[in-house]
Amino acid sequence: MCGVAGFFTGCEFAQTCALKNGGACRSLTTDAARSFRGWYDKASVRRSPRRELDPEDIALDLFPRHLVPHLAHPLIAQSHPERIQHLLTLTLYRFLTFTFNLEMQLVNDTTRKLIMHELPFSLDGAAILNAQKLICDEAYHALFCADLLDQAITLTEVAPTGTARPAFLSRLAEAQGASEDPGITQFLYTAVSEMLITATLYEARSAGEVPGAVSGVMLDHAADEARHHIFYRDLLGSYLTSLPKGDAQAAAAQIPEAIAAYMEPDLPGIRGDLLAVGFDRDDCEEILFDTYAATSHKDYVDMSAREIQRLLHELDLSPTAEVADAFAHLGERL
Ligand SMILES: [Fe+2]
Ligand SMILES: [Fe+2]
Repeated sequence: MCGVAGFFTGCEFAQTCALKNGGACRSLTTDAARSFRGWYDKASVRRSPRRELDPEDIALDLFPRHLVPHLAHPLIAQSHPERIQHLLTLTLYRFLTFTFNLEMQLVNDTTRKLIMHELPFSLDGAAILNAQKLICDEAYHALFCADLLDQAITLTEVAPTGTARPAFLSRLAEAQGASEDPGITQFLYTAVSEMLITATLYEARSAGEVPGAVSGVMLDHAADEARHHIFYRDLLGSYLTSLPKGDAQAAAAQIPEAIAAYMEPDLPGIRGDLLAVGFDRDDCEEILFDTYAATSHKDYVDMSAREIQRLLHELDLSPTAEVADAFAHLGERL
């Protein structure tokens, strides 16, 4: 993720600028240039090999099992441990599908709009080049996720459940429907996702004994996302500081729900996995309730949201009581 804020005027895109009808054209700058220095040599799309699943590796956990909390539930761990490998395979499918959708439907769409001046602010010249590199990165992430998903389906012969549309897309659409400016809401959700995904990938890449192709994809992705994190963090900060204080606080008020959209467990997706491996509906609900209504998940969400809250603090955007309450209750809405 990155953040850039500002107006610019007289550009070649004036005819299509979102603010052409009477608005000034803000141009934002970012200090993220350093993070993209050396991109042609460092980016995964430029240097990494294709990650190929070894047929012998499919006997391993296809996803780090310690990152799948419901596997510890007694109905799974004690009563049906033989279903764990199947569940891990379906979790890998959901993870890859989530990432594919995040890149193609959200991050690259938002970044394209930034480049093409379709948002109420635009990037300066250097930031536009970096945004183009970011788009290349994300397109490659989407490709290696689709490629790995295809390889895994072929080698394991485990069918996808068909319930893999990530829940965050529905929550984003809902938020945009309630927003006065759906484009800005999309930008805020993108910035938040780019600030959250880095920590998640760093955690996942070093987890357990998974096939080299799986850990390789996570490693490639994490390396690139460190750049994106700085880019969208800068951009979010620049955007918020360019606004009058009240408007900035109103924008910041959307952030807790954006965090929740990514961090809260995708219950429909997990339920689909559990049904697919043979649990009945009562068992599914028991597993979901016992696992995800617990407060242990809240600690993880709080930790992940900490840097975003730190940014708001640095910008002197002390949250309103309502927003502070929303942050305090992140991870509890199940
Ligand atoms: Fe990515
Ligand atoms: Fe990214």
